[in-house]
Amino acid sequence: MTKSIIITGGAGFIGSHVVRTFVKNYPDTMIINLDALTYAGNLENLRDIEDQPNYIFEKGDIVDPEFLDTIFEKHQPEGIIHLAAESHVDRSILDPMSFVRTNVTGTVNLLNAARKYWGTKLEEKVFYHISTDEVYGSLGDTGYFVESTPYNPQSPYSSSKASSDHFVRAYGNTYGLPVVISNCSNNYGPNQFPEKLIPLIINNIKNRKPLPVYGKGINVRDWLHVEDHAKAIDVVYHKGKNGSTYNIGGFNEWRNIDIVNLTCDLMDQKLGFENSRSLITYVTDRPGHDMRYAIDASKIKKELGWEPHHTFETGIDETIDWYLDNMEWLDHVTSGSYREYYAEQYQDR
Ligand code: NAD
Ligand code: TYD
Repeated sequence: MTKSIIITGGAGFIGSHVVRTFVKNYPDTMIINLDALTYAGNLENLRDIEDQPNYIFEKGDIVDPEFLDTIFEKHQPEGIIHLAAESHVDRSILDPMSFVRTNVTGTVNLLNAARKYWGTKLEEKVFYHISTDEVYGSLGDTGYFVESTPYNPQSPYSSSKASSDHFVRAYGNTYGLPVVISNCSNNYGPNQFPEKLIPLIINNIKNRKPLPVYGKGINVRDWLHVEDHAKAIDVVYHKGKNGSTYNIGGFNEWRNIDIVNLTCDLMDQKLGFENSRSLITYVTDRPGHDMRYAIDASKIKKELGWEPHHTFETGIDETIDWYLDNMEWLDHVTSGSYREYYAEQYQDR
């Protein structure tokens, strides 16, 4: 192998799709998946590629600088694609400090490791940080986030991601580290942990459990298929300009209640259920709930030629099929600590 890339968080939802994309597209590059395997990390997501000669898994925590030193010495990476994070807004409301730990301290540790290991040999090196559109705050009925929109994070999750984005840019400006950042809208697709809206609803419809809709269900998200995000990450990693930011989105805005209704109807057709919509239960709103996110992804289209390929109509249909075909995966991830989380999150709403 001539090159190697470390992908952090490669056992998670988006990370596993990114690892698969890179392992398949770059057989001469060693892909090192560095992941602590928290509740959100699952090596079952990567069964189909785990025996590939250009894939290695390393279990460890990005908050541990000595572990990072060992990994950088061992694998001598040219590139880092950093996805490891605590990623769920509701959990950040329950426990903000774990978000500071991984998202802020962990990111700065990784920047330090790259800086220390690469020294002044920075040609063809890339530190690529994966972030979220939530750093920009909340929109009203109109308008879009562009790359120059001022940061205005509202939740502990988005505040921790905003902080990590600032550190990445600061290391670019101050130490000349070659950095690039992308900020993406809400992802959906196979392997998403069922704490997030779409897989949670699919799982609850299947099990005839209440479908918790926060507030009035009128908050709007822009949804992008995870495989389109993984392709965008491939493009930004290889063609993104040093020091640049790219917004990634699906041009696909939905109110939460409309997604829940659509998922009910599709599952009724597939499974012969009657009126899954009757399971919808309006519950107390999320504190500080951002009203609307919408991304203007024209820069990445114009400069790097990326645009999404999945339509939401087929993407959501195929995603439901994936969960129904992978009930064993769903059963594994919803046993144990998931039950405690679910009770804490939903029982008093
Ligand atoms: P996820 O929660 O599914 O996976 C996170 C992964 O990081 C897991 O495999 C976990 O084990 C690992 N991890 C967590 N803490 C770690 C630590 N301290 N050390 C090493 N590994 C650790 O998250 P996701 O939805 O796949 O999101 C991946 C990235 O993309 C995150 O940075 C997130 O902020 C960003 N993002 C997510 C979305 C989305 O819709 N899910 C949208 C935009 C951006
Ligand atoms: P989520 O998937 O948690 O992503 P994010 O908060 O990062 O956008 O939530 C998507 C939307 O769905 C958000 O507006 C909150 C709402 N939501 C519910 O109404 N009920 C739920 O049980 C969950 C998890 C989310």
